[in-house]
Amino acid sequence: MSAQSPAPAKRIGVPDIRARKGGEPLVCLTAYDAPTARLLDPHCDLLLVGNSVGMVVHGLPNTIPVTLEMMILHGQAVMRGASRSMVVVDMPFGSYEASPEQAFSNAARILRETGAQAVKLESGVYIADTIRYLAERGVPVMAHVGLRPQAALAEGGFKAKGRNDDERARVISEAQAADAAGAFAIVIEGVAEDLAAEITGAVAAPTIGIGASASCDGQILVTPDMLGLFDWTPRFVKRYADLKALTEGAVRAYADDVRARRFPGPDQVYRITRA
Ligand code: KIV
Repeated sequence: MSAQSPAPAKRIGVPDIRARKGGEPLVCLTAYDAPTARLLDPHCDLLLVGNSVGMVVHGLPNTIPVTLEMMILHGQAVMRGASRSMVVVDMPFGSYEASPEQAFSNAARILRETGAQAVKLESGVYIADTIRYLAERGVPVMAHVGLRPQAALAEGGFKAKGRNDDERARVISEAQAADAAGAFAIVIEGVAEDLAAEITGAVAAPTIGIGASASCDGQILVTPDMLGLFDWTPRFVKRYADLKALTEGAVRAYADDVRARRFPGPDQVYRITRA
């Protein structure tokens, strides 16, 4: 690096995220490709390469068919676009549940091949031993409790949690077990608002809510949902743009121009003087 080169932007890391417990809320979004990551990066603290990529990019019905190779490919793309935000990559279904050793070898592959800072895994209480095994070996782990999309087959769909005392106790135990095992942050998805607030007060790790509560230590949304790319979104999503209407309008205008031979126009063609 020459003396004139500007210092590269410092990337947000685990200690920065942990220091935000109870402080300024963490701004998090999902990202799956380099150009989108570049747009989100200046505004976010953390970008999650979520396994929602299977549904919102690849058109799959749920996250079950998502593979480790897909997560690595999208993780590499996001790392090329983001220089400041912490980048976390989801471990897909089947890549960590069998044993702590399986989880370590796949998490190490993700970190090594993408350059991301951490992995996320969906955390039933039984996964706490795996979180501890990873954390002790230098793998930063973000846990994900409450509505766990990878349990959709077993639970018959995506269902918000906190409807009765048993369910509430189960989600609190999931979060406390992940916290005690060394998760550096905990995503709480699709739970009753007061339950998310109770968990936030009961764990040392910052909580990141999605369909949870404004009292979480941060918020995350699936980016194409908040940009309004789809007809339907879950009720907890606030649409900040209408990308579907914008895209449809732009494509309709392009199609009209092509059919009327208005495109390409004089500004979009090469006029090269022959030698
Ligand atoms: O896969 C994903 O995008 C996620 C978020 C919904 C938190 O897990």
